[in-house]
Amino acid sequence: LWLAVGIRRRNPGEPPVENGLIPYLGCALQFGANPLQFLRSRQKKYGHIFTCKIAGQYFHFLCDPFSYHAVIRQGRHLDWMKFHFATSVKAFGHDSFDPRHGHTTENLHQTFLKTLQGEALPSLIDAMMGHLQDIMLDSDTVRPCAERWQVDGIFVFCYKVMFESGYLTLFGKELGRDKPQARQAAQRALVLNALENFKEFDKIFPALVAGLPIHVFKSAHSARENLAKTMHADNLSKRENVSDLISMRMILNDSLSTFNDISKARTHVALLWASQANTLPATFWSLFYLIRSPDAMKAAREEVQKVLQSTGQKAEPNGPRLTLTREELDNMHVLDSVIKEAMRLSSASMNVRVAKDNFLLHLDNQEAYHIRKDDVIALYPPMLHFDPEIFEDPYEYKYDRFLDEDGQEKNTFFRGGRRLRYYYMPFGSGVTKCPGRFFAIHEIKQFLTLALSYFEMELLDPLVKVPPLDQSRAGLGILQPTYDVDFR
Ligand code: HEM
Repeated sequence: LWLAVGIRRRNPGEPPVENGLIPYLGCALQFGANPLQFLRSRQKKYGHIFTCKIAGQYFHFLCDPFSYHAVIRQGRHLDWMKFHFATSVKAFGHDSFDPRHGHTTENLHQTFLKTLQGEALPSLIDAMMGHLQDIMLDSDTVRPCAERWQVDGIFVFCYKVMFESGYLTLFGKELGRDKPQARQAAQRALVLNALENFKEFDKIFPALVAGLPIHVFKSAHSARENLAKTMHADNLSKRENVSDLISMRMILNDSLSTFNDISKARTHVALLWASQANTLPATFWSLFYLIRSPDAMKAAREEVQKVLQSTGQKAEPNGPRLTLTREELDNMHVLDSVIKEAMRLSSASMNVRVAKDNFLLHLDNQEAYHIRKDDVIALYPPMLHFDPEIFEDPYEYKYDRFLDEDGQEKNTFFRGGRRLRYYYMPFGSGVTKCPGRFFAIHEIKQFLTLALSYFEMELLDPLVKVPPLDQSRAGLGILQPTYDVDFR
């Protein structure tokens, strides 16, 4: 009978299990309403590990940070590809990247590491700095003006500036025979159109990950396909200064896969999404908290002024453009901490692995639990980020939380007197850790540096409350605010 109604009974040696009240969905609704609260209450009841049925699948939530290593070190019992590749197929509609499915032999992981990190980074940073200044100083998107204030929503502003700059950095600019001004206008129209399509598609992303078919969402479906059309090989080949990431992926799509043209284009849409969906809200939160905190603003301005002085540069809207090397950006520890703290408060990415076979999971406290084949093991980093034992007053924004006494990066955090290896995980962990994380931090630093150099900024309402996080995306990355906040 248990089996017939899809309810699991706990076997000896297994974690405590909650099947939830609703068939198939299990605990999905309670979890979805407020994941952190749900997990905290179960942790109180069951301890370091427990199992919940969520949308037909059994998730083992591991809550002890000292045991995270057992999952992150990627032992032979755990599979990371299955869940990731299946999710990407559900959301973007391309053929599978899983080599076991036979559509491609590309090692996607290697492609990302080669084109987003190490030697590939300086040219991404360089391109981004140029585009950011084009848009912030000299475009219809933003019109800086010395005589009067301009009012905008912080969210709207960050989306406009970062989307366009990031898009041009990865996908380059269209080659054309028109006059530069006409080309510029056409280029901007294309990117703004892409932003509208991106937002329309991004709205339903959580539903797609949950397994709903995209046909149910007419306008989001056509938004995704519109984006894909602009990324057909014919269109991409008309662009110059395309990043290594996209040009290498085009070559590998052609040489190593059996994807058809539309599937290839959709793989580029997936990368557009990966490069923007978290960066945009992370930029919002970084700028919002910065403007709201006079101490943070003062320290950040001082750091920016110092770096400009030491490199002999001056921020003048009509003067030469500012440039900063990777090393100079890396040494901006105040901005680093400003961004980290904003992401600590807004990130909700779940880390998952799938059990390849029945095995025994060993925890740090010497306990071991039986895990069944095909079950999911999940880590939910907000449990660390809002743990008062790790971060004092965890709901408060403290811009210097990640600075040590010498103003360098702080990386010693403790729980119960023991030093933690894992305390901050907005980029995931282990083998699936975000390959774009270095670029992401650099681009947000560049954005903040330029905003602080060229603009005076203040909140329209200096006492404005922090907008609540939109929990509908919990599990998927940086959460968006439920409403925008005006600044000038
Ligand atoms: C994957 C976070 C920016 C490219 C991921 C994952 C997370 C993440 C949590 C999944 C890890 C997992 O599944 O366990 C973020 C955050 C960002 C950011 C918080 C910004 C603040 C970027 C940027 C790029 C990028 C700017 C590219 C330019 C990717 C790619 C993957 C990924 C390609 C998939 C990796 C794979 O499946 O092997 N990111 N990301 N991300 N991210 Fe990012």
